Amino acid sequence: MPRVTQRSIKFKMYFQRKGSKEALFREISFRLNGEPVRVRVRSDQRLIDLLRDTLGLRGTKEGCGRGDCGSCTVILNGLAVTSCLVLAATVEGAEILTVESLFRNGRLDPLQEAFLEKGAVQCGYCTPGLLMSAKALLLENPHPSLEEIKIAVSGNLCRCTGYKKIFEAIQLAAER
Ligand code: FES
Ligand code: FES
Repeated sequence: MPRVTQRSIKFKMYFQRKGSKEALFREISFRLNGEPVRVRVRSDQRLIDLLRDTLGLRGTKEGCGRGDCGSCTVILNGLAVTSCLVLAATVEGAEILTVESLFRNGRLDPLQEAFLEKGAVQCGYCTPGLLMSAKALLLENPHPSLEEIKIAVSGNLCRCTGYKKIFEAIQLAAER
């Protein structure tokens, strides 16, 4: 009688997966930064990996990889979401905006201008996520209160510096 070991279980799983390889993939269509996209994704692929590795949009950053830091924030159907927690296969038919969408026709978004003006640009990890959380807020509520701004970026963590300039930058963008 063959012995069932951890190793033999892994082999069995590997061959089962190999046998049903096609079931692991799915073709999806969605809109990305205003353009239609049709792409083949693995059923276990995360949205952040689809954006960065498959579609080459490296502006979205991975920090914690478990929904805690907000670095990977994108806008999905109008809502700021952490793309490390979204399965790529679930975005069929969705409208997604990444940080790359902010720079259009050679011009920065007013939010990016305001971040520059107020000295709110921090490191390359937290800034894209902060911008997208702020953008989602302004799309839904063009004139937010300070309290609403604080809530909107509360999921974007930075342990290096403060948030005052970020709040000021979002307020400035809202005024324009
Ligand atoms: S990388 Fe997604 S929340 Fe931190
Ligand atoms: S995490 Fe970006 S400056 Fe702190």
